Amino acid sequence: MIKSIAILISNLNKTNIISQAKYTTSVLPQFSSEKYAVKRKNFGILKSADVEYFKSVLSEDRVLTDESDVLPFNIDWIKNCRGQSKIVLKPKTTDEVSQILSYCNKNRLAVCPQGGNTGLVGGSVPVFDEIVINLVHMNKIISLDDISGALVCEAGCILENLDNYVRDHNLIMPLDLGAKGSCHIGGNISTNAGGLRLLRYGNLHGSVLGIEAVKADGTVVDCLRTLKKDNTGYHLKHLFIGSEGTLGVVTKVAIHCPALPKAVSLGFFGVENFENLLKLYKSAKSSLGEILSAFEMADNKSISLTVENCKLSNPIGDYPFYVLIETHGSDETHDSEKLNRFLSQEMESGLILDGTVTSEPAKIKNIWHIRESIAGAGLINGYVFKYDVSLPLRNYYDLVLTLRTRVGDRARVYGYGHVGDGNIHINVSASKYSKELYAILEPFIYEEVAKVGGSISAEHGVGFRKPQFIHYSKDKTALQLMRDLKQSMDPNGILNPYKVLPDVPDIEKD
Ligand code: FAD
Ligand code: MLT
Ligand code: ZN
Repeated sequence: MIKSIAILISNLNKTNIISQAKYTTSVLPQFSSEKYAVKRKNFGILKSADVEYFKSVLSEDRVLTDESDVLPFNIDWIKNCRGQSKIVLKPKTTDEVSQILSYCNKNRLAVCPQGGNTGLVGGSVPVFDEIVINLVHMNKIISLDDISGALVCEAGCILENLDNYVRDHNLIMPLDLGAKGSCHIGGNISTNAGGLRLLRYGNLHGSVLGIEAVKADGTVVDCLRTLKKDNTGYHLKHLFIGSEGTLGVVTKVAIHCPALPKAVSLGFFGVENFENLLKLYKSAKSSLGEILSAFEMADNKSISLTVENCKLSNPIGDYPFYVLIETHGSDETHDSEKLNRFLSQEMESGLILDGTVTSEPAKIKNIWHIRESIAGAGLINGYVFKYDVSLPLRNYYDLVLTLRTRVGDRARVYGYGHVGDGNIHINVSASKYSKELYAILEPFIYEEVAKVGGSISAEHGVGFRKPQFIHYSKDKTALQLMRDLKQSMDPNGILNPYKVLPDVPDIEKD
């Protein structure tokens, strides 16, 4: 029998150790441009007349120029990248965004659109002195149709706030991720964020009904429809989903919210080996069918490091692999019957060694907290090299093992992720950044991913850290079409330069 969850979870605490870290000079990361040897492109340089112009468009308090005020907007969440921006602009309306971009375009001033700055590939912070356009003040909910489930809101709304709002109307947001308390819906859309329940609710290309975005020249593109079906010409909203601020600034969003599930259960299980974990996934899909809402995995090192560094407690014993299985359904009796049948079957078969299951919201939250804390746990040791890749399920865990051998005792290598989506996160946690370790990891990891037909970015995007590796996953013709689109929508290249698109190699230039 599965043990009850009784003891454990009360002492888990929700403090986010990482977000409390202060920016003292001793922990300031190196400038990205120096760390990764990047040359500044030929953009304009901010002058006092520009600052005055921005102050005339926005109120003074929404134009930050003080170095210490600007600093947090220059550093990414994992403290890997650091830009050198001198100014942060915080527009409140689409019209303000439009005026800012139109001015920047005319004066060839580069910009970096920014949401909650939780991105993990360095896309959300400048590289040099790009102007940060942070959408935090565009946080209004515009409308909610609780019959169709269409929510319309501004891009700077925090995901968790939106989820709380729609829950009051018996709906949920179609995505959930560990960064929900800080990330913006506009950032989610711009990265095409995946998250913990993509397996059930699909990706944002399916859920986003409409988008309003501002192009580099200040033109407001209005595709803010709330219809499920609209085949009138090119599906332009998709250009902005996942384009990481390189094609436009997303200002408003219409998104479909599914019904709030009436019955939710979550199980946390120990598994003997990866082969059994895959068998369990196959069995969960067939036994739980439409109620399966998440199937997540973490290896032993992920969980042990997380509970140790974040001072949490593991509700079950020590196992080689852990699996989190969640169900969302509409009938508690029907769902628990299904779940119990599946669990007894797989305890008996030995695929599940031990575990704990709960339907109590507070306990569910606490188990998810362990899973969501893995992302930041390694940072407490000093530095984390983060990899987010898609792999065929039969190869899903191999790369972790290969890397452990390759890295040796230089760092801790652990893997966790969204098994249901073939998406593994491989973290390499060391006491500090070192060029030697970096060279051991990259491009090796991407070569290995390409060999088995995987993707070098499953859900975090390309950002600043991966343009030079994009060719491992994108064909030349596809890359050329991306460049053509960029040229047409942002001919001066002011929107998030140094991100997503690689520079054209000399041999490809005429
Ligand atoms: P930012 O980090 O500010 O920006 C990300 C990119 O989007 C940048 O390129 C930026 O220029 C662009 N951008 C932001 N807002 C706009 C806008 N309005 N218009 C145009 N461009 C814009 N990601 C996942 O996919 N799945 C996960 O499960 C997941 N879990 C995470 C857990 C933790 C603890 C953390 C720290 C991160 C996690 N992430 C995850 C990564 C990150 O949270 C997501 O990429 C998120 O969608 C970024 O949103 P943001 O508002 O913070 O955007
Ligand atoms: C996750 O699934 O936890 C996130 O994508 C963040 C991470 O990769 O660490
Ligand atoms: Zn993830």
